[in-house]
Amino acid sequence: MNLFTLPVRVMIGDVIEQLSDITRKRLLIICDRFLVDTPNLKAIVSSLSANNHVDIFSDVTPDPSVQDVAAAIHTLATVRPDTLIAYGGGSAIDLAKAVKYFAQQSGLGTCSFIAIPTTSGTGSEVTSATVISIPELNKKIPLFHEALLPDRAILDANLTLTVPPQVTLFTGLDVLTHAIEAMVSINACHFSDALAEKAASLVFTWLSTAVHEPGNLDARHGLHTAASLAGMAFNHAGLGLTHAIAHQLGAFFHLPHGQANALALIPVIRFNRQSVKARNGYARLARSLGLTGCKSAEQHGVDLLISAIEGLFRQLSYSPELLATGKNDCIHVMAEAVLNDVTLRTNPVQPDQQMVESIIRAL
Ligand SMILES: NC(=O)c1ccc[n+]([C@@H]2O[C@H](COP(=O)([O-])OP(=O)(O)OC[C@H]3O[C@@H](n4cnc5c(N)ncnc54)[C@H](O)[C@@H]3O)[C@@H](O)[C@H]2O)c1
Ligand SMILES: [Zn+2]
Repeated sequence: MNLFTLPVRVMIGDVIEQLSDITRKRLLIICDRFLVDTPNLKAIVSSLSANNHVDIFSDVTPDPSVQDVAAAIHTLATVRPDTLIAYGGGSAIDLAKAVKYFAQQSGLGTCSFIAIPTTSGTGSEVTSATVISIPELNKKIPLFHEALLPDRAILDANLTLTVPPQVTLFTGLDVLTHAIEAMVSINACHFSDALAEKAASLVFTWLSTAVHEPGNLDARHGLHTAASLAGMAFNHAGLGLTHAIAHQLGAFFHLPHGQANALALIPVIRFNRQSVKARNGYARLARSLGLTGCKSAEQHGVDLLISAIEGLFRQLSYSPELLATGKNDCIHVMAEAVLNDVTLRTNPVQPDQQMVESIIRAL
């Protein structure tokens, strides 16, 4: 039996209105040091009903680490919230997920969990995934568990109007990578395809506009929707080799997650096209994007998809650049970590150590 669920209640619209039903609660908001001082978060906090008690943990770092998780659990143990609110990009939401899960495991009880994304990228607000780093070991570890799912996701695109162009660009390419990997995953189905196809289409329609016109609310709304749709797609289907490599690029070189994906995306499509299933998935996506008429050959569909991604990169003035020189010594260790990354399990082709090393070396 196949099971398909959309377990998170997604509320789209003004965040202040969506939070107005919260009364007489102990709230713990998890965000990063930049967002804590922004007018948007201040307005949200001051709009909350005065009979709530609000605490803020604002020490989220990019690619949150196990140390961040421990520090936030310490705060949670003091505050004992009944509602946890993650406010921020994937880093804040992922940290809050890990905190909720490990606090519960440690006997600190459970609480309801609201995710409010302020970037349009990871889709973490609707997934059962979190990615936690162990910096001293150069490791980024994706974890999947049903208990990591938020109860509510609030999508208010107004919160993303301040995202700088570079962050918009890379988070948008993360969305595209989620959609593409979900399409060719061994667990892809019509439901996840439908979500992934719409997500990819919204990225192609709006990403360039959002990067060049940060204040364009239609573009922001399109991308915010795309991020959650792609999250729902990969929450069912899984990801693949691009993410398995991106996690290592992030762990070793501290690249933003979306940039790491953007670097590996086309090389992985070229590698995966040896599989019929992958070629079918890429060609289906190309067709749904209107890149090809009715039923053209799979190989042609893959070529069209690669050309479209290259065209998008050009519109964004982005070129996947040589990552680093003189780093050959870590390629072997990185490749081993790729093979152990849980996201590789749903890739349509299972590479061996040598294949992964050659892809990484080419980057
Ligand atoms: N859980 C999942 O399903 C999943 C999927 C993909 C990636 N991830 C993880 O998510 C993390 C990346 O998340 P991200 O790409 O959203 O980046 P991020 O959360 O690290 O944020 C990037 C930067 O953008 C800033 N920012 C956020 N919102 C802003 C706003 N509205 N205005 C101005 N600046 C803003 C942040 O302060 C930060 O400096 C990585 O750790 C990655 O591994 C998780
Ligand atoms: Zn991602």
